[in-house]
Amino acid sequence: MVKTLRTDRWWLYPAATFVVFSGFVVFATFRAFYATDYYSAPYLSPFFSPCLTGSCVEGSSDFGQPLGWWSLSPALVILIFPLGFRLTCYYYRKAYYRAFWLSPPACAVAEPKAKYTGETRFPLILQNIHRYFWYAAVVVGLILTYDVVLAFGPAEGEPDGIHMGLGTLLMLGNVVLIWLYTLSCHSCRHITGGRLRHFSKHPVRYRMWTFVSKLNARHAQYAWYSLFSVALVDLYIFLLAANVFDDPRFF
Ligand code: FES
Repeated sequence: MVKTLRTDRWWLYPAATFVVFSGFVVFATFRAFYATDYYSAPYLSPFFSPCLTGSCVEGSSDFGQPLGWWSLSPALVILIFPLGFRLTCYYYRKAYYRAFWLSPPACAVAEPKAKYTGETRFPLILQNIHRYFWYAAVVVGLILTYDVVLAFGPAEGEPDGIHMGLGTLLMLGNVVLIWLYTLSCHSCRHITGGRLRHFSKHPVRYRMWTFVSKLNARHAQYAWYSLFSVALVDLYIFLLAANVFDDPRFF
């Protein structure tokens, strides 16, 4: 039993986090292993991008198939990077430590375990790898941006040229949120402005750091929004590819 003198509904936040995260994990695991219906020209699901294995469906491998020997789902090769980035994120750590381990469940609420060891030992000390995942996340962001450019291409049966459908807009919205999440990262803030003695001697980095710091104040919101948007885009493309409905085309 958790102990606290708080009388407000402090449990609401960890409970909601638990439900939403669990739902996302179930959905993402299902999609990662159910490796079909992830491409509906010109849209490629973010869970499967870049599609690098021999089993990738025609048209989905914009960077070739260098991992032709890989026989499992193509998503499993690349999901480690965005997943590792999110799992080690400072904000998500706070959220899932509270929601799943009750460590602690909320401010001024005692945790049920008697001993607290923080992140000083294995395996949690590995959370420090987050800064390296940030670099991988930037590459993922660039690839997803490229996917959005391709999403302005023709769908099946359309002539060459620039086109746009609802899927294009959803992918565009998703990549904006992914960039907001990536650039608002605490590690990004340190990369742009850390290890400096004098900001006055580094005006460009000072400007970058100021920009990132402003984004950083809303990092938690971007973490949630981008989690929803990436799942939504995947679901949308899944339903399109499964012929559940047609993509509304604007031009
Ligand atoms: Fe959240 Fe880096 S702190 S992504």
